[in-house]
Amino acid sequence: MPLPEPCTRTLAERVVTWQKQAGRHHLPWQHTQDPYRVWLSEIMLQQTQVSTVLGYYQRFLERFPSVLDLAAADQDEVMPYWAGLGYYARARNLHRCAREVAEQWNGHFPPTAAELATLPGIGRSTACAIAAFCYGERSPIMDGNVKRVFTRYFGIYGQTQKKAVENVLWDKAEQAVALSRADLDMAAYTQGLMDLGSQCCTRSKPTCSVCPLQADCYAHTHQAQAELPSPKVRTRQNERYCHVLVLEQDGQLLLEQRPDTGIWGGLHTLPQFDDEQQLHVAAQRWSAQEPVALASFQHVFSHFRLHITPWLLQSDAPVLAEPAARQNWLALDALPQAALPAPIRKLLDGLYAPDSNAQLTLAEHP
Ligand code: ADE
Ligand code: SF4
Repeated sequence: MPLPEPCTRTLAERVVTWQKQAGRHHLPWQHTQDPYRVWLSEIMLQQTQVSTVLGYYQRFLERFPSVLDLAAADQDEVMPYWAGLGYYARARNLHRCAREVAEQWNGHFPPTAAELATLPGIGRSTACAIAAFCYGERSPIMDGNVKRVFTRYFGIYGQTQKKAVENVLWDKAEQAVALSRADLDMAAYTQGLMDLGSQCCTRSKPTCSVCPLQADCYAHTHQAQAELPSPKVRTRQNERYCHVLVLEQDGQLLLEQRPDTGIWGGLHTLPQFDDEQQLHVAAQRWSAQEPVALASFQHVFSHFRLHITPWLLQSDAPVLAEPAARQNWLALDALPQAALPAPIRKLLDGLYAPDSNAQLTLAEHP
């Protein structure tokens, strides 16, 4: 266990020493300076946790081993490798970015953070992370984890999504690099900030006793860990509702491709309706029976919470009726391979995969 270090060394140098002793060293996107691999990991990790990303990352690289392979593929070939990771705009931008690298950068990612940041889907922090990992550029990062460490260490109050607060954080991040020695190991520093945020300076109950920043950390000194970062002022969360139809006939399930824009853009999912009435009207086409409501569940997106009510219907049409535009029948035994949004996958696994531990209950219905 590393001892807390005194504050005679700079923040960056302490983070590097700690990373080497206590940080993560076996993530599959470490030990490479290939910008394609690093870029892919950073995009996947933007809103998804490491444990989820691991499997997706390997499968993606097996199918698309280089940026040129990705650029050569159709958008539709990429989506199945992203299905379940969420935030599908990321996958669309990923593909656009690969094309841009192929066409405008000769198949090579640009060599600086500033140029990387001009590419689709690469924001300032992601660009800086790629440049630090691949090129050793002295570019500071400021992602969600680092915001937590910095607001606590420096005692920065105010909502971190506010521009003014964000500017203060970026200034601190730049200073932290500028104040450190010229041969600072930028890859270890960048990884160290991420590791510190996820292993040590955690949202609840940070383990300050093993933190290299403890000696002069504002939050530790003032026991203010619980109030930093300042909580978001919760505007009433935007709640949305939808109803999905689980229509089964002859061992097949009806799927529908979402429009290219909006949530789950381009993915195949269950036919989805804004209200119960629309679902019932659509259901009449397939069966004289009434669909049965299952228990609703929720899925949280970045800007709203979606309440999903599934309705089960066994079609009694004698033959498979012709599906409407963008609809298709899928054999139930092909379900495991289908590219589905994560919550829909969970729902269907609960219904059709008996080994799954997904919970399924009938709604209490009048
Ligand atoms: N989150 C974002 N980038 C990461 C990385 N390189 N390692 C672990 N978690 C991360
Ligand atoms: Fe976070 Fe505690 Fe370290 Fe401060 S001392 S940076 S609050 S883990």
